[in-house]
Amino acid sequence: MLVSTSELFKKCYGRYGIAAVNVWDMEQIHGLFAAAQKANSPFIIQTTPVARNYASSEMLIAMISAAAKIYPKTVFAIHLDHGNKEHAFQSILSGDYTSVMIDASHEPFDENVKITKEIVEEAHKKSISVEAELGVLSGVEDDLVVDEKNKKYTQPDEVVEFVEQAGCDSLAVAVGTSHGAYKFSGKQGLQFDILEEIQQKLPGFPLVLHGGSAVNKDEIQRINAAGGQLGIDAKGVSDKEIIKAIQFGVCKINIATDARLIWTRVVREFFKYSPAQFDPIVPGKSYMEAFEKFCIKKFELFKSTGKA
Ligand code: G3H
Ligand code: 13P
Ligand code: NA
Ligand code: ZN
Repeated sequence: MLVSTSELFKKCYGRYGIAAVNVWDMEQIHGLFAAAQKANSPFIIQTTPVARNYASSEMLIAMISAAAKIYPKTVFAIHLDHGNKEHAFQSILSGDYTSVMIDASHEPFDENVKITKEIVEEAHKKSISVEAELGVLSGVEDDLVVDEKNKKYTQPDEVVEFVEQAGCDSLAVAVGTSHGAYKFSGKQGLQFDILEEIQQKLPGFPLVLHGGSAVNKDEIQRINAAGGQLGIDAKGVSDKEIIKAIQFGVCKINIATDARLIWTRVVREFFKYSPAQFDPIVPGKSYMEAFEKFCIKKFELFKSTGKA
């Protein structure tokens, strides 16, 4: 059953987190829906403009609609991830999405407010909710001076003004994560002092954690053992950090990299250990099953199991 993103956040705030899973292929969609049905967990399925360029938006939406029929007990929302103005307007018009992200976080504060507000006005006419981003999410390097580092984080002093002026329904915050497999160097991790301050300024307001992948060490080792060359410094968000972030108001945890790693591991192992085979259905099936298991584990960690 398709539900609104806001409704999911209202129920989960401060208690459990909703996995927002990026999809670009059929195997993931099967795995995700199968996992959610088994775990009785709500979820958000999301697509980026890159994924939509790859598979086509129509194809992804059609597969999601089909999955809703194949797995009729699922409860989910459909979200546009990292849209610009054009993507956001188009997604609102299509009627296929329950929420959209407008990512104008690279713009100066006032411009970010202005662009977000335009999207919010259009989206709210159709009861579609809007995620905006304040602060710039990117890799944080150890050798940057503190001032430069801080520039990238969401400034707690700006969040109230931003949310009030822009009217968004949830806020993606930059609190130390980055996209991809190399999130932290050394002992770095989530900046809970910043996250806590943001929550105190915006009590009860749903926060979003981008860059939520765990980058499992075991996946990295298996990928490399099967011929991959991923860096040993690959590192993601720990389980402990996720649990703590949820308590600080993070309602939505975005996951894409972990799915890419599972695909890479399955396909590399297939070629390495079954060199005489040439049937894509064999690794496809393994990928689907591995992704289903992964999603079930994530629902357990986020404590969304049984909440659908
Ligand atoms: O932010 C989300 C993803 O990590 C980037 O995904 O390559 O589909 O844009 P994409
Ligand atoms: P990861 O790269 O950690 O999977 O983050 C995904 C994300 O934030 C999608 O918007
Ligand atoms: Na998003
Ligand atoms: Zn993101």
